Amino acid sequence: MRIAILGAGAVGGALAGVWVKAGHQVVLAARDPAAEKVRDLAARTGASAATVAQAVAGAEAVLLATPWPAVAEAVAAAGSLAGRILIDATNPLKPDLSGLDVAPGSSGAAYIASLAPGAHVVKCFNQTGWENMAGVHFPTGQAVMFVAGDDAAAKAAVRGLAREADFEDADAGGLAAAALLENLAMLWIHLMVKQGAGRSFAFGLLHR
Ligand SMILES: NC(=O)c1ccc[n+]([C@@H]2O[C@H](COP(=O)([O-])OP(=O)(O)OC[C@H]3O[C@@H](n4cnc5c(N)ncnc54)[C@H](OP(=O)(O)O)[C@@H]3O)[C@@H](O)[C@H]2O)c1
Repeated sequence: MRIAILGAGAVGGALAGVWVKAGHQVVLAARDPAAEKVRDLAARTGASAATVAQAVAGAEAVLLATPWPAVAEAVAAAGSLAGRILIDATNPLKPDLSGLDVAPGSSGAAYIASLAPGAHVVKCFNQTGWENMAGVHFPTGQAVMFVAGDDAAAKAAVRGLAREADFEDADAGGLAAAALLENLAMLWIHLMVKQGAGRSFAFGLLHR
């Protein structure tokens, strides 16, 4: 799959490496593709780097992994995403990480969907730390990654991308469930920041 990564930072970099290894064609969509840190990341992961418009032009899927305040600008720079998969890995965090900056019951993903008419928005890769996204083995079991979206084919494709990052992929339902996944991210952040849990844990699912 041709994947553009909009937000070539911690999350984008971790997933770029995983998806290049899995055989995808990955482009880092950067404001300044010639910047040293973008070139370093491209060299480290095997992805290429391009401007946002160039990278998104040929992409079947776009990973949105910018800081929350940059989301509107980044989606606008991408141009039309109609008919394409837009994977929303962002969390609408308040600047002090004390909670989510959206109305109760709403979600960052709903806002992003409103910015990208016709895109198949899928919420994923927001629920754990970036260090857990680079194909990590947990000795006590497999980490889970919930996936929420309204388009069945887009969600199936993103579930495959989650499996390639060594997650157990789990269907959380339609995009309305993104609100739950953003709260799950908030729990992970709360445990990490307030409870001293560190960053090397992830949530898993038990089955019987
Ligand atoms: N960090 C985590 O563990 C984690 C886990 C799950 C989800 N998330 C969520 O994922 C998102 C990204 O987090 P991160 O930690 O990966 O952030 P990060 O390391 O700060 O990287 C963000 C990237 O976005 C780029 N960016 C900023 N504004 C942009 C714009 N307008 N257009 C294109 N690119 C732009 C930045 O590039 P410049 O150099 O151009 O500024 C930077 O490369 C956040 O919404 C966060 O809540 C983070």
